[in-house]
Parts: sequence; C-alpha cells; structure tokens
Amino acid sequence: MQAIAGKKIILGVTGSIAAYKAVYLTRLLVKAGAEVQVLMTPSAARFVQPLTFATLSKRPVFMDVTAEDAWNNHVEMGLWADAMLVAPATANTLARLANGICDNIIAAVYLSARCPVFVAPAMDVDMWHHPSTQANIKRLQSYGNHLIPVESGELASGLEGEGRLAEPENIVAFLSKFFGVSQALVGQKALITAGPTYEAIDPVRFIGNRSSGKMGVALAKAIIEQGGEVVLVMGPSKLQPQMNGLTLIRVESAQEMYDHAVAQFPSCQVGIMAAAVADYRPLDPAQEKIKKKGDRMTIELVKNPDIAATLGSQKKSDQTLIGFALETENGEANARGKLTRKNLDYIVLNSLRDPGAGFGTDTNKVSIFGADNKVVHFELKSKEEVAKDIIATTLTKNK
Ligand code: PMT
Repeated sequence: MQAIAGKKIILGVTGSIAAYKAVYLTRLLVKAGAEVQVLMTPSAARFVQPLTFATLSKRPVFMDVTAEDAWNNHVEMGLWADAMLVAPATANTLARLANGICDNIIAAVYLSARCPVFVAPAMDVDMWHHPSTQANIKRLQSYGNHLIPVESGELASGLEGEGRLAEPENIVAFLSKFFGVSQALVGQKALITAGPTYEAIDPVRFIGNRSSGKMGVALAKAIIEQGGEVVLVMGPSKLQPQMNGLTLIRVESAQEMYDHAVAQFPSCQVGIMAAAVADYRPLDPAQEKIKKKGDRMTIELVKNPDIAATLGSQKKSDQTLIGFALETENGEANARGKLTRKNLDYIVLNSLRDPGAGFGTDTNKVSIFGADNKVVHFELKSKEEVAKDIIATTLTKNK
C-alpha cells in the first residue's frame, strides 16, 4: 500500500453506532504505513473508548478543542495532515461541516485543514435520503471535499437501505486510489511459492536450481501494494523480504514447500506458483558425507509431489491459481499442457531462450495463457513491472 504509506491522516470519529468500524479502519491505515491522528466527538466516545484508538494509532486522541494539549493543535493538525477523513460522519456532523459551525474539535480542524478532506457518512436510510442531508452533502462537495459513498444493506435500526458506513477496506481503497495506487486487492490473501528447492543428497550436498526468488518477491510486493496480504513460502534464497502484510515461511525441500502450501491454500483466494520446484529428490539421502569412490556414481531419484497440481485439484470456484512454466523449447505447447494438467486458471510462460528472462535476472519476458484460451504477450521488463502485468491480467482485470 505504497500510496498510503507515510501519509499523515487525521481520522475524525463522530457519534454513530458505526464508530466501531473506525477501530478496524484505524488498524488498516496504520498497517498500511499511515500516521493516524484520531479526533473524536464526545458522543463518539460513548460508542467506543478513546483508549482503543490511542492504543491502535499510538497517539493520544483529542476530543476537546479547549483542552490544553489540543488548543493550538487544531490549526497545527490542519496543516500537518496529508488528508482528513471523517468516518463515520453523522448527519449532524455533515450539517456542522457544511455550515462552518465550529463547536467541536473535528469541525475546528476541518476549518483549518489545507489538505483534502474525505467524508464517509453513516446514518439511517431516511436520514440519508432527507433533502437536508443531501443538500449538506452537495454543499460539502461544492467546497472540494470528497464523498466516500455510503453502502446499502441492513442498518442498526433494523431497516434496510442506503446509509451504511462504507466498509473500512473500501475506505482505504478510496483513499489509496486518490493517492495514486489501485487497492483492488484489499481483503484478498495470496499464497506465493518462490525460489529454488534443495533436495539433500547427503548432509553437505543437494540438488538445486538457479532460482533467486526475485520473481516471487516482486509478486508479493505488487499484491501488498494493491492492498492484499501474502503468505510467501520461499525456498533457500538470499533475499530477506520484509513488508507489512507479508508472512514469510522459509523452507528448503520440495516436500516442505508442499506441506506449507497445502496447509495455507484453503485460507487464500489466490495461489501463485513462482517457485522452481525440483521434480525429483534423492530416494535415500545419505546420513553421512558420501566418500569419493569409483569414476561413476548413481543417485536414485524419486518423484516429488507436485504443489501446483495438488492445489489445482483442491481449488474452489472462488480461488484463482496461477502457475509458471519455465521452458527451453516448445514453450507455448508445454505451457498449455501444464495449464490443463495442473488445473490452473493461468500460466505464465518464461523461456530461457529469451535473453534477460527466467532465473536470477532482474528482468523477465512473459506470456500469460488463460484457461479461457486468451493469451497476452509482454516485452522484456523489470520483474517488478512483470509482477504488475501478471496481477493486472489475472486478478484485477475487471476491477
Ligand atoms: O526466482 P527467479 O530467479 O526470479 O526466477 C523466476 C523463475 C524463472 C523461477 C519463475 O519465473 C518461474 O518460471 N518459476 C517456475 C519454474 C518451474 O519450475 O517451472 P516448471 O515448468 O518446471 O513448473 C510448472 C509449474 O509447476 C510452476 O508453477 C512450478 O512452481 C510448479 N511446480 C512444479 C513442480 C512441482 N513439484 N511443484 C510445483 O508446484
């Protein structure tokens, strides 16, 4: 969530039952890397304790414009912030802000704010549709403020209709979009396999491959930037990825990667198999270092479980599974074969015939084949750009 990371956000919480959602909203904003300063009206504090917000935001909550520590701050805060967000904004608060009535700290900071202001209303369906409320909304928008649309559904009163506070994920997505990066993957969790696997021959030797893990890490970064969460199951790689929203599971062998991937996939909406997994492993790894003997030696290998194919066989209709095909010949035919055999939704072909593509490099050149027979070819690009192309083609194309 680069767009939100580092942003200073004032969150004004007003007295609505939806104030409880502002707790999760605070957590999402902080998790995305924002500095959050919470302001509350006294009636908001009757729904949620200020201590909850203070703990989550790691800053004191201000409620009283005349309090010693807040008196000068309403002007300073208005200048400090990159954005002011009023969520939930009650009908009363909308009226107050629309008419410049400065009788609480949120209104005082609002009038001092030079940053963009966002209001996320919350109220009952009839209050929302009342001409007074709608006129206040129009007036606020005419001053350049941004309306985060209400959502529709069951309301606290028991009535159904428009007036619900937008879900916290949607509020974060709205802000992020405003700041420049789509947040189409908020609420989505992706399992990514990355890097090589090492298959022990004896305690010092292994069968491995040249994967660096860069492609998988680039994918993790791109998904997190768009609001998603990632579980990255990574084989031995020098990379040390650290990001909010990333759970890193380090493994060595294909069997370990398989065990973790199979355990994680049911709680994910997306699986991306970017790892270069050894197809075979030594049947009987030696317990002690193998000594040099004759001119030849034979190691008997046994097949490893196929992670992508197993997840493909367990995939639910709301899960998307994306594989890679690393080929040296007959790229398209081999990729299509793997797409079908492993029951993938998409396969990303990279060929070692293309200079700059595949293992170890900072660049890659890919073609993406869909189970729907659609194909998209891309030029050589950085792995970060390739990751964004993969996500745009497979996960966010309709968003
Ligand atoms: O890590 P980098 O240096 O950045 O390099 C990136 C990459 C070249 C490793 C990556 O882009 C890539 O192509 N990964 C897949 C490599 C591979 O092993 O492809 P494959 O054609 O052998 O396998 C097909 C698919 O099945 C892959 O998604 C693979 O992860 C998966 N597979 C294969 C075998 C196995 N036992 N389990 C699997 O899940």
